[in-house]
Amino acid sequence: MKIVSQIKQPVEQEMELFETKFRDAMSSQVALLNRITYYIVNRKGKQMRPMFVFLTAKLLNDGAVNERTYRGASVIELIHTATLVHDDVVDESNKRRGFFSINALWKNKIAVLVGDYLLSKGLLLSIDNADFDLLRIISVAVREMSEGELLQIEKARRLDITEEVYYDIIRQKTATLIAACCSLGACSVKPESPDVETFRKFGELCGMAFQIKDDLFDYGAKKIGKPTGIDIKEQKMTLPLIYVLNNCSASEKKWLINSVKNHNKDKKRVKEVITFVRDHGGLDYAVQKMLTFKEEALALLAAYPPSEYKSALELMVSYVVDRKK
Ligand code: IPE
Ligand code: IPE
Ligand code: MG
Ligand code: MG
Repeated sequence: MKIVSQIKQPVEQEMELFETKFRDAMSSQVALLNRITYYIVNRKGKQMRPMFVFLTAKLLNDGAVNERTYRGASVIELIHTATLVHDDVVDESNKRRGFFSINALWKNKIAVLVGDYLLSKGLLLSIDNADFDLLRIISVAVREMSEGELLQIEKARRLDITEEVYYDIIRQKTATLIAACCSLGACSVKPESPDVETFRKFGELCGMAFQIKDDLFDYGAKKIGKPTGIDIKEQKMTLPLIYVLNNCSASEKKWLINSVKNHNKDKKRVKEVITFVRDHGGLDYAVQKMLTFKEEALALLAAYPPSEYKSALELMVSYVVDRKK
């Protein structure tokens, strides 16, 4: 069986019900919005975040979830979708999930407003049902994601990013939402338990590995449903490049910085940088770091008794680092 089917199996029913609830949560009276949300739900992503929510809840609650768990999963996926719509505006990216991005089809103005709409729909789903504990978890994640994206832009301007700052950025822009999935999954069934914090940390570690993997994709040539090679174009310095910058000669460093600063739109030059980074061990180093986060995540799970949900979460951690898209 494929690894994704294996992960999904213990939450199959929940994921099915989730799909309808998620679709309903997006609906609007405005025809243009409906057309766009229809376009979005028909090009669904991997749905890893709702899987994290349900698997965590079921692991902690003898296989039972509740309406709060479903609403939490929908809110998270709504917010995730909103940030992707905005992210493609920010990154000037014209592809997402193998199709044109919203900004590519409807332009930036509409993409910004659609992102805001999805964000508000998510928050209201919690408010209307008085899930205030879950709303707090989610709102913290939303704040941190915006801060992470802005920190990334600030560092891209100055081209002076360190490995530590890189980890801060990815923790904020990506890991906090996956952390929110797991702590929210826990909180939906066990509001007061210390497991909420343990699973927040577990999700954060998975999220760190997840974003390093995403950044590695950008150095590859495989088809992943969104553009590759755009990080350097956007002057975004990720772990492979940061490592190589810190481990090459002064003249090589000068060439690299000059490439990213002044030749970032030159396709041939960007290719040369990518090759240089690969040849100087940048990708290998990032893989090592990614696997360290993976091991730390697995170590947190080790304290829990065996169950099909635990096994699925362990597979999920492997999927984060082995996935092909
Ligand atoms: C993409 O997330 C955004 C990042 C944090 C890298 P996913 O890779 O989970 O996106 P979809 O939902 O599967 O398209
Ligand atoms: C994704 O950032 C994190 C978000 C906050 C959406 P990226 O720009 O690195 O993600 P992709 O590669 O476009 O999905
Ligand atoms: Mg981005
Ligand atoms: Mg992007």
